[in-house]
Parts: sequence; C-alpha cells; structure tokens
Amino acid sequence: MADGMSFGNPVLIKKPGFFQRTPAPLTNTLLQTPFFSDDDFRRDMANMILGKHCGDGLKYILTDPTSFDLYADFNKASLADEGEDYYVSTRQIEIIRSNVDFFRELGRKHGNQLVLTELGTGTGPAIENLTFPLVEALKPSHYVGIDYSIQSAFSAATMVDHKFTAVQSMWFHHDFNQVPFNRDHKGKEWNRPMVVVQLGSTLGNVAGRPGEGLPRAHVMAALKNYRGSMQKGDHLILGLDQNQDAESLHKCYGMESIERFGRGLLRQIHNDVLHQRAFTPDDFEYVRAWHPESHLYTHSFVAKKPMLFSMEGQLVHFEKGQGFTYCNSYKYPQEFLDEVFPASGFKPIARFPDPKGQVHLHVLEAA
Ligand SMILES: C[S@@+](CC[C@H](N)C(=O)[O-])C[C@H]1O[C@@H](n2cnc3c(N)ncnc32)[C@H](O)[C@@H]1O
Repeated sequence: MADGMSFGNPVLIKKPGFFQRTPAPLTNTLLQTPFFSDDDFRRDMANMILGKHCGDGLKYILTDPTSFDLYADFNKASLADEGEDYYVSTRQIEIIRSNVDFFRELGRKHGNQLVLTELGTGTGPAIENLTFPLVEALKPSHYVGIDYSIQSAFSAATMVDHKFTAVQSMWFHHDFNQVPFNRDHKGKEWNRPMVVVQLGSTLGNVAGRPGEGLPRAHVMAALKNYRGSMQKGDHLILGLDQNQDAESLHKCYGMESIERFGRGLLRQIHNDVLHQRAFTPDDFEYVRAWHPESHLYTHSFVAKKPMLFSMEGQLVHFEKGQGFTYCNSYKYPQEFLDEVFPASGFKPIARFPDPKGQVHLHVLEAA
C-alpha cells in the first residue's frame, strides 16, 4: 500500500508532484479486505433466515470483494441497454445532463472551497457517468467518497483524483446511515461548505416487511445523520427511484446479474456459515415481487423443496415455497418525502423528475 494509507483511517489521495500516486485499485490486494467481520455476517444472515430481519442483506452483496466486478458489469449493462428506458442510472444521468446549469449555479454559490461528499459511490461506470458530471458542474475543491465497500470508495476517490487534478480526493469506509461523516474530516482543511450527494436510490434499500407500511424510522434516522454531519446552508442531492409501475419495475429487475448477486450471497452463507449439505444454494429459487401497498420491491429466495438445517443453534424448516427476503427496494411516494425531509431538518429547494416522473433528484438545503 502506498505511503500514508491505512485501513480504518481517512486516506488522502495525494497529488502528483507533491506526493506519491496511489496504486490502481484493482491491483491492490489489501483492498480485498471485507468491511464486515465474519461475526457480523453470521449474525445478520441468521437473523435474516430465521425471519427476525427482512430485506437488509444488500450490504453483504455489495461489499463482498468478488461482487465488485459483478456490480460494475451490472452498471455497464444497464447503461448500454438502449432497448430498456427505465434504469435508475440512465435516468439519473439524463436528469443531471438536462439540469447541468442548476448544478453549476449551486457550485458557484458555494464558492471555490466546496467539499463534495458522495454517499455510496458504487463502482467504475457509476463514477464515470454520475460522479464525473457532478464534479464538472459543481467544481468542488475536495471530493470525499464514502461507501462501506472499500473497493468502491477507494476506486471512486482514485478515479476523481486522476480525472480532476485540481481536486483533493479522500475516501472513507463506514456506514453513512449511522456514522456522522464529518467525523474524520473535521480538521480545518475539510471544514468548508459541503454538497452531499447520494445517487442510485440507496435510501430505498432499508429493512422492512411488506404490509408494514413505509420504513419511516430508518429513513428519518439516516436523514438525521446526514443533517447532523452538515452545516446550515449545505446541500443534499438525493437520487430516488419513485417508480410505482409494476411492469417496468419487473423488467428492470429482470436482469440476470441481479439474480447472480443474490446467488453469491447464498454461496457465502453455505460456505462461511452453515457448512451443511442441507442448505444447498441450487435448491433455492430467486423470486422478485412488487408490493404496491408498501411501495416495496423485494428480492427473495424460496426453497424449491422442503429443507431442514440448523442456524445459530436453531433448527430451520422451510416448506417448499418458503424462504427469506435478502434485499428491499422502497419506492417512496412523494407525500412521504414531503413529510420526512422537513422533519429531519432539510428544506426542499428543487426537485428534478425524469420525463416519466419515476426517478427524481431532490435538492435539499440543511435548514
Ligand atoms: C445502490 S448502490 C448506488 C451506487 C451508485 N451511486 C449508483 O448510483 O449507481 C449503493 C452504494 O452505496 C453503498 N452503501 C449502501 N448503504 C450504505 C451505508 N449505509 N453505508 C455505506 N455505504 C453504503 C453500497 O455499498 C453501494 O456501493
């Protein structure tokens, strides 16, 4: 690892001419370190399979080092699929492109010492197509990429560093829904106006169950953590998928790589947690479902035949068709956002919908 870099600490990616350039992300073997411990994984998978948690397994899919390339492939495929017009990324790209003057003006208002903090950077194609245009428009002096996927945060900061040599880049890996993200860069250099951006409808991936209503407590806790990390007058740009149309949702989530993500999780559970022949990944069927009453899209695995295995000392019996939900994607209705934004300390100042009114970029000011 290059000088000045260590895990768990902020990493400043230094400019050529002053400091040594960082190595390319994918050749750095230390980046294969997973963010969550084996104990976290075991506990959370047990809770999910025993039905105590529902729909919050996505973090293990996106932080599994082997999924880094899969996620980039998924991104690339959705961006290249011109036959399908509804993907969150493609819509967000369009929205940024058609409102670039607004983002330029927002950057100008903050002056030339702006920190752009990105929550949930994702991988290469997302950085190139979403982060880069925002950096170009907002013209920050500093960029901070935060993701609990070490690979993602690191590659985002490195890519920004290489493309925008005037921008100082930094990355952190922690849970931005729980940990204040100004914690590690409170020093003078980073204590500047901030624009926080979160794209990819990340706030929709929270725990909850169909039929239980919207996950207000989770959303409020996350927004309050963002607000608490910002100063009055800072801005939050939030990209959210609010599509309620079952047909286009099913089509968009019908991509083969979505199922492959989940299958990786089943393999991890089998290999790392259960070591039991009774829990066979191939005996699970991937099921995706839209629950309009809860504004919730779920990704689940159900048993293709009766299964009996033990988990954390408990016997689990799945009948054929029974299983568990590993990923939730809430599509928040506008009325819900109209209530939670002000309640968490944000004043909405602009909202940019795509032409079909399904994906929105919300611009909120820290009040
Ligand atoms: C849905 S993806 C969006 C990626 C990218 N911004 C895009 O638009 O394609 C969410 C990203 O946020 C990260 N992430 C989600 N929740 C997080 C949390 N609470 N703390 C840190 N990272 C998180 C995931 O690892 C993933 O890279």
